[in-house]
Amino acid sequence: MKGLPMLFFGGENSHTFMHYDIDLGNIFHFHFEGEKECILFPQSETKYLYKVPHSLITHESIDFSNPDYEMWPVLKQANGFRTKLKHGEVLYMPEGYWHYMKYSTPGFSMSLRAIARNPKNLAKALYNVLVMRHFDVMMRKIKGQKWIDQKNKRAISGTNFLKTG
Ligand SMILES: [Fe+2]
Repeated sequence: MKGLPMLFFGGENSHTFMHYDIDLGNIFHFHFEGEKECILFPQSETKYLYKVPHSLITHESIDFSNPDYEMWPVLKQANGFRTKLKHGEVLYMPEGYWHYMKYSTPGFSMSLRAIARNPKNLAKALYNVLVMRHFDVMMRKIKGQKWIDQKNKRAISGTNFLKTG
């Protein structure tokens, strides 16, 4: 394990966006106080998650704790994991896993991380840090809100074509 432990605090019903970490690290997530809902997806499911291009998040309007499958039909095809963490429990998130966390009650957590070991994930991490992030910042400067709207639209069109039935 390398790197400094990170602390996260959350109030009741606060949540993170569904995202994966820029370095696709391996994470041990320790939870303290109360209860927290965690939803995870491996990278293999990315195509079903309405990922926003040039970012590390899915479309921000999806409520992963109670998804509207009429609005996000392809999400039904994604195979993930759901659990609830209670005081003193630890969750291992394999490298690059997507994660969404919602604090059912106020609480806090601590993460310990190690860099990606799978060469494919390590390459993706380097691309994210060295290319994707800078490209996105540059496009935001040039195109502003239009760039963001365009990416959100592409998150939907780029996923919905996988719709079955
Ligand atoms: Fe994260």
